[in-house]
Amino acid sequence: MQIGTPLSSNSTRVMLLGSGELGKEVVIALQRLGVEVIAVDRYKNAPGHQVAHRAHVIDMTNDQALRDLIALEKPHLIVPEIEALNTSTLADIEAAGIATVIPTVKAVQLTMNREGIRRLAAEELSLPTSPYAFAKSEAELQAAIDAGIGYPCFIKPTMSSSGKGQSRITQTSEIKTAWEYAATGGRVNQGVVIVEGQIDFDYEITLLTVRAKNAHGEIETYFCEPIGHLQEKGDYIESWQPQAMTTAALQESKRIAKAVTDSLGGLGLFGVELFIKQDKVWFSEVSPRPHDTGMVTMASQRFSEFDLHARAILGLPVDVRLRDSAASAVIYGGHESLNLAFDDVEKALAVPNSDIRLFGKPESFLRRRMGVALATGKDVAEARSRAKLAASLVKPKVV
Ligand SMILES: Nc1ncnc2c1ncn2[C@@H]1O[C@H](COP(=O)(O)OP(=O)(O)OP(=O)(O)O)[C@@H](O)[C@H]1O
Ligand SMILES: [Mg+2]
Repeated sequence: MQIGTPLSSNSTRVMLLGSGELGKEVVIALQRLGVEVIAVDRYKNAPGHQVAHRAHVIDMTNDQALRDLIALEKPHLIVPEIEALNTSTLADIEAAGIATVIPTVKAVQLTMNREGIRRLAAEELSLPTSPYAFAKSEAELQAAIDAGIGYPCFIKPTMSSSGKGQSRITQTSEIKTAWEYAATGGRVNQGVVIVEGQIDFDYEITLLTVRAKNAHGEIETYFCEPIGHLQEKGDYIESWQPQAMTTAALQESKRIAKAVTDSLGGLGLFGVELFIKQDKVWFSEVSPRPHDTGMVTMASQRFSEFDLHARAILGLPVDVRLRDSAASAVIYGGHESLNLAFDDVEKALAVPNSDIRLFGKPESFLRRRMGVALATGKDVAEARSRAKLAASLVKPKVV
């Protein structure tokens, strides 16, 4: 693998489509390897924009806008960080030999829509998932629940993330509200929802799975230690690593993650979301890129999930070993503001073994993730209490 000089004629160029907090860390990881990085998002001064060589604001669902920018910047690799993209444009670009899409066009296309990835996992690969159905109307939704999904169940837009448009319902009278919320809460209003029966899990994990080249140049699959996490309203608030698991559950998790990532293909890191009850494991969904719950790896591993992604996509070897037990806790904006400030950062950092990331998002909302506290500890319990304490000490305020 050869890497050129940034900003020269032989530079190795990577374009990120989506430049949020996860993209920002991927940009930094690539910068450290001497890669020329172009960060793209739909709004100005996105976190990744602030650390890239060049920043662009375009509508990434627009075919022409995407083509024009790729023609201008001539990236070697295109790295999607979000799901709201024009994936058929990306398919054309790759087919024309203009750039490589990470990890693959297939992975990006299937995971942008819950229907694609669910059908792949459950129907093609026969992996265990929650019972599910798709509905195009309130009546179809009702029929699917009555036909066997039952209650409690989760209703989600087929195109959404971070819990947007998602509800959990326990009775028929809630269907109407859930339908309306999902049908309007999706990213691109498709009018299709998925309804899933509730899995009564003991805990849930993200298994970071890396497809990277080994010393012989062959693609090999590597697994980070499992990450446990806590979700509130479909959004992650805390994560830790390693999550203790039975040998059988871990083995089954790896089997499922390997089957899904083998099928999606390419090079890079994937966040495989799994539900666990004793030795039984259900596949939930997968991100073909670093995962929000994986931010804990910035404290726990020698190479964070962002470093691993950067290395894997460049064809470089990876080392997924855990260094310390660690945890992450989310810092929300708590206010609607265009110039939020964070007070008492020094108090947060006085917590032993703690660290912090403030993403630098230009606009804050009440429940917008604006930063994350990280901490290590002698075990996960100690790391979690430190990370939570550090996060709680940071005081977002409007000045
Ligand atoms: N069928 C289910 N059974 C039990 N819990 C569920 C089910 N579906 C979703 N959940 C809970 O809701 C959380 C969010 O669901 P899901 O991952 O599908 O949504 P999302 O919008 O893609 O969220 P994110 O983008 O943060 O991963 C899950 O991590 C889990 O805690
Ligand atoms: Mg999820």
